[in-house]
Amino acid sequence: MALQLGDTVPDFTQNSQLGSINLYDFAGESWVVLFSHPADYTPVCTTELGEVAKLRAEWDKRNVKTIALSVDSATSHTGWIGDINETQSTTVDYPILADEDKKVSDLYGMIHPNASNSLTVRSVFIIDPAKKLRLQITYPASTGRNFDEILRVIDSLQLTDNHSVATPVNWKDGEDCVVVPAISTEDANVKFSKGVTEIKPYLRMTPQPNK
Ligand code: BEZ
Repeated sequence: MALQLGDTVPDFTQNSQLGSINLYDFAGESWVVLFSHPADYTPVCTTELGEVAKLRAEWDKRNVKTIALSVDSATSHTGWIGDINETQSTTVDYPILADEDKKVSDLYGMIHPNASNSLTVRSVFIIDPAKKLRLQITYPASTGRNFDEILRVIDSLQLTDNHSVATPVNWKDGEDCVVVPAISTEDANVKFSKGVTEIKPYLRMTPQPNK
């Protein structure tokens, strides 16, 4: 069955250009963004993997480790990384799994046969430190991902795990949040010292509690 939100993600050990990677050992106590791409030496993927490297400080700030994957070999990854570093002005410092036997792709449902029988689609998985799946998004091969959106979701998850809020449409870190429905407005007024604005009984806003 396909992985669903809240599932404990399956562990694996697979080769990469940095050697063998065991997911759980690699993750440790960190969050993980695991993402697949269709193939090495392709233009959209080149920009994506470069962007993930350029965002290193943003991942680190959030205690996130990144792992890419394609069904190409580790030797291919190493050669391609030279091109990524050169063309995207960065240094790819994270593992790209060499999933030649499709072990991880099959485990995570990254091959969608009606899109391509042999290549992985652009899947993204956000995995929390408890190894639970917190987000999955699948993009078509022709559309490069927006990794700012992935960071935005991680900000939301890390906030909402610790405070009784949810984040509204297009929310960004620092903006007002929604009070979760489980809390009465009376209790919310006590809990959120920065104040609660009741727009409707079910729609209550509060400044971001941890800012
Ligand atoms: C690309 O990364 O540029 C790409 C890969 C597969 C299909 C289309 C584009």
